[in-house]
Order: sequence, then C-alpha cells, then structure tokens
Amino acid sequence: MKAEDFTDPTAHWNTVYRTNTPDALSWTCTQPAVISGWLEQAALKSGQAVLEVGGGHSLLVDLLLERGCGPITVLDLSQTALEQAQIRLGEKGKAVRWQVGDITTTPLERDQYVLWHDRATFHFLTDAAARERYLERVRTAVQRGGHLMLSTFAPDGPEKCSGLPVQRYSAKALLELFTPHFRLRAEKRELHHTPWGAVQPFTCVWLERVSTKDSLE
Ligand SMILES: C[S@@+](CC[C@H](N)C(=O)[O-])C[C@H]1O[C@@H](n2cnc3c(N)ncnc32)[C@H](O)[C@@H]1O
Repeated sequence: MKAEDFTDPTAHWNTVYRTNTPDALSWTCTQPAVISGWLEQAALKSGQAVLEVGGGHSLLVDLLLERGCGPITVLDLSQTALEQAQIRLGEKGKAVRWQVGDITTTPLERDQYVLWHDRATFHFLTDAAARERYLERVRTAVQRGGHLMLSTFAPDGPEKCSGLPVQRYSAKALLELFTPHFRLRAEKRELHHTPWGAVQPFTCVWLERVSTKDSLE
C-alpha cells in the first residue's frame, strides 16, 4: 500500500485511495457478515436517515441501498474515495449524499440519524480531545431508539492501519465510552481477512441510543 503524508490526514487518505486499488487495501471487505446480520435485525424503514462514517469506497453503501435504507449520507475525509464509490455505483449513487468532511469537526443536527455506522474509522482517533468530539456528535445526532454500529480493531488486532496508529478496543471498553447514552444490543468478534489473506480481529458492537437526563440538556 502506498501513501505519503502522515501530517495531513486528508492528503494521506486521498493519496491512499488514488494510488491503491481496493485489493491493495487491508480493510477491503466484500462480505460484511456481522453488520449485514445486524441490519437485517434492525429492520430499518425507508425514510430513516443513515450516516456511514468514514465510508471511503466501501461496499456497505451498496448493501444499504439494496436494503432500501435511506436517506443515506456517506461522510469521509477523502474526496477521492467518495468519487470512486460514486463511479462504482453509477445511477444508484445519485440517491446518496456524499459529504467530504472530518467527523470530529463536521456540524451535525440533533436527532438527525436512525443509524450511525462506522467500520475502522473511530479507531484512528488516538487523541482524547478528538475522540470526545466524536462521542459528542454521536450523542447529538443519533435519535432515541436509534442505532450505533461500530467496528474497531480488537485488543489483539493490528497496532496500525494504513500506516497510522490506532486505538484497539474490547466490546466492554467501547460500551464504557458510550454509556449511559447507549445500551448494548449485541457484540461480536469478527476475523477480517484482508485481500491477501492476513487475519485481522475486529470488535463489533451494536448499541442503541437511550434517553438519559443528561442527553436532554
Ligand atoms: C480504514 S478505512 C475504512 C473505510 C471503510 N469504513 C471500510 O470499512 O472499508 C478508514 C476511512 O476513514 C476515513 N477517515 C479517517 N479519519 C476520518 C475522519 N476524522 N473523518 C472522516 N473520515 C475519516 C478515511 O478516509 C478512510 O476512508
């Protein structure tokens, strides 16, 4: 995998996507089994807004479209990745809102989303202040009764991804971060196989937004 600039995350990610095909990227996943099963169970209805955080050019948006979910927003630092996803989807991609932005600084409206999905983006937030800004945004933007589906490297997963350090999590550690605003619906360990056959353990959690006194402030 090629990349060049670690000091500018946007430049880094644009270079990664410009200079690598999907089969050269460790996170490429053609069958998101855990999330697929959870989406089935969550049974989202058409009209319920979904935010795919750090979606890159992942196939998750294809799955959401197939399931009739939406409106769908795919947000990512990398314009290059979002353009590649749009080319892949063609006409179908016109139903999606493609937003270039940093999830730790992008303003989000209160109760905007019924589903917030993030695979392998939250774990790049190794800085406590950035992580707190992410948590604030999740608490604000996910409606009561809405869903947060999050996948990060597990405690025995790789220490880096795309050349950048990551924070690895157990399900318990993730739950502690999001409590009391979310409760656990399900957790699963997933062994992701990279396109070249390496195994990367992920922690996946499905959390549900609950009402708390704090969150009504
Ligand atoms: C490892 S890739 C995972 C992509 C996709 N979720 C998947 O599973 O295939 C991480 C993605 O997060 C994006 N990203 C990293 N930091 C971000 C941030 N602060 N805000 C939004 N996107 C970010 C990157 O551009 C990249 O597309």
